[in-house]
Amino acid sequence: MSNAMWGGRFAKGPDAVLEAINASIDFDRRFYAQDIRGSKAHVAMLAAAGVVSKEDAAAIEKGLDEVLAEIEAGTFKFSRALEDIHMNVESRLAEIAGPAAGRLHTARSRNDQVATDFKLFVRDALDGLDGQLRDLQEALVETAETHAAAVMPGFTHLQSAQPVTFGHHLLAYVEMIGRDRGRVADARRRLNECPLGSAALAGTSFPIDRKMTARSLGFDRPTANSLDAVSDRDFVLETLALASICAGHLSRFAEELVLWSTPQFGFVKLSDRFSTGSSIMPQKRNPDAAELVRGKTGRVVGALVGMLTVMKGLPLAYSKDMQEDKEGLFDALDTLSLSIAATAGMVRDLEPNLAAMKKAAGAGYATATDLADWLVRVVGIPFREAHHVVGRIVGKAAAANVALEKLPLSEMQAVEPRITEAVFEVLGVANSVKSRVSYGGTAPKNVRAQAARWRKRLAKE
Ligand code: ARG
Repeated sequence: MSNAMWGGRFAKGPDAVLEAINASIDFDRRFYAQDIRGSKAHVAMLAAAGVVSKEDAAAIEKGLDEVLAEIEAGTFKFSRALEDIHMNVESRLAEIAGPAAGRLHTARSRNDQVATDFKLFVRDALDGLDGQLRDLQEALVETAETHAAAVMPGFTHLQSAQPVTFGHHLLAYVEMIGRDRGRVADARRRLNECPLGSAALAGTSFPIDRKMTARSLGFDRPTANSLDAVSDRDFVLETLALASICAGHLSRFAEELVLWSTPQFGFVKLSDRFSTGSSIMPQKRNPDAAELVRGKTGRVVGALVGMLTVMKGLPLAYSKDMQEDKEGLFDALDTLSLSIAATAGMVRDLEPNLAAMKKAAGAGYATATDLADWLVRVVGIPFREAHHVVGRIVGKAAAANVALEKLPLSEMQAVEPRITEAVFEVLGVANSVKSRVSYGGTAPKNVRAQAARWRKRLAKE
């Protein structure tokens, strides 16, 4: 049997393999609600424009509500022969509403329909993503505030660099997620133009009111070029790109959790709720959730690369290749959502070992820069020279295998005679972080101020 929707010029039905490669119903049914919402807006506009009668429009709207109820009740029979969600809904509508249903597809094509549906879906998903990211920021800000003054090592090249506070480190991620949310808002704003009424590619001869449908679906305006409207998937690419960047941020944090929770670092303990055991080694507490947040980044980035590849050579306007926009996006969004939830859970449960962090903060001569700064400030020597002097002092301490503050004053004076007892004040890690008061620096009072700023901002969002 040929296709009930477009089979007019076909004598035979499709090969089973064509059906298998062509059908999208197994995944695009996910935006049935958006499809029905779009159809209702379309038919209401057609009635207002006098293109279909009020009676037919009413029958169609009522029928669409019934279809929606059936899908939600799980009684709807999806058919692969009907390819996609659009034709599945319309075919069932015809059974319910009779001949009037045939008028719904006036001045519309599946090309503008699918672009509209998918934009509605992505818009909802972006709103959900923003809410989840906000929640994660809240968890991070709370923990950062609690540990605003807890000293830990700061690293460059993963080598001890200078002491920072745990709160400062966590707030770094709050900033990253803040930018992720900015990208979500940008993407949402740019996608919010309505393709509906662009029809197959050229627009339509019917006197439709595209502003009306755009408005009723919550879009800012109708798209301005019908060819672009049906072949634009920038909103999918942008969403995958922002998802990839965000997943990358989560992955960096996950990597730190993995590292910090090793017995060698011992900076944090992940809760039982977010750790797993080993089937052979009884002592193990494995950070599987963090590892998977790190690992799942690959799928998200993969979806972005996949979709960039799909789009790169497509001539205008619609090509069926674009049906490939869905599964990758669904998977990327689901993956990211799970990763954000897991990260927020790990943060809320996190038990930092403040003593271990503090001890490690002093390792590796992490206050060497403080000593150099002291020489500049107190003795008045140029920084480059001070750097050299401190390098020699660190060399002595390393040779004696002692921390900087444990090196006798006489040893320091042998390198630079103007060093006095007062220097010991800056060699401790707590004093080091306390002194970093420049805007954006790690001093506990800065960290408290930044946490308060975020808390205020989050309360408004
Ligand atoms: N299922 C299709 C998609 O997702 C809908 C649009 C089909 N349009 C067409 N002319 N075959 O892209």
